[in-house]
Amino acid sequence: MNIFITGANRGLGYEILVEALQRGHHIYAALRNEEAVSQLTTLITQQSMEASRITILLCDVTKEDDIAKTALQLKRNNVVLHSIVNSAAILVGRETAIVDLDIDDVINSFDVNLFGPMRIVKHLLQLLAQSESSIINISSEAGSITNAYAGDYPYSLSKCALNLFSEQLKRWLHAHDTVVWSIHPGWMRTDMGGPSAPLSPQQSAQGIVNIIERKVAIDSSFAFINYKGEAMSL
Ligand SMILES: NC(=O)c1ccc[n+]([C@@H]2O[C@H](COP(=O)([O-])OP(=O)(O)OC[C@H]3O[C@@H](n4cnc5c(N)ncnc54)[C@H](OP(=O)(O)O)[C@@H]3O)[C@@H](O)[C@H]2O)c1
Repeated sequence: MNIFITGANRGLGYEILVEALQRGHHIYAALRNEEAVSQLTTLITQQSMEASRITILLCDVTKEDDIAKTALQLKRNNVVLHSIVNSAAILVGRETAIVDLDIDDVINSFDVNLFGPMRIVKHLLQLLAQSESSIINISSEAGSITNAYAGDYPYSLSKCALNLFSEQLKRWLHAHDTVVWSIHPGWMRTDMGGPSAPLSPQQSAQGIVNIIERKVAIDSSFAFINYKGEAMSL
């Protein structure tokens, strides 16, 4: 499979890259800037990864021009994608009361966490294989309305909207053999999740790649599931 992953230089995106690479897939790693490129290039060398199966693309998800150019580049090379994984996200303005909230944090969170995946799908959908393909939007339990908590407004609202976007895409693509999932990856030990998190990003990545490979029987009426393929409450 050809798997396109945003935010593949660190955290969950990187672990999905490692897991998918080990399973023989080709990775299209979309990275925000040159610093992220050099971070991933160093890891590829240090970990003796098979560099011929990793294509690095400069792609800030907030910049539609970057994404359009990336799509054009892939199209010219006749690349067919089997999965698009939107993992890149930011978590800012945490635990801030509404009265103290910096609205720019909300705007920036939507820009990366919701508009990012929307821009990616807008431009890359044309490259997706007609069968057995997937769009994986990495979401969060923080985006659940049922389990809402009074905090993390920028992040939670952007992930809630991402869940709806996933549901809309799922319904729009229902006649195709393209599945759409909005996946809560678990609370993981990454820069975002911090060192106290119970789950390793490797474990979550294994589950997510199983879902991409359709190795998991998923019983969920909605697109929102966890990394094991279990239904999540919207
Ligand atoms: N960690 C958790 O416990 C947890 C829990 C629930 C959900 N999630 C979700 O899981 C996903 C991965 O999180 P993580 O823990 O791996 O986060 P992370 O360690 O903070 O990594 C975030 C990644 O997103 C990239 N990124 C940020 N802004 C970007 C932009 N504008 N364009 C392209 N890439 C950008 C970062 O690139 P740079 O290195 O260039 O900044 C980095 O690669 C996210 O969607 C997150 O919301 C995480």
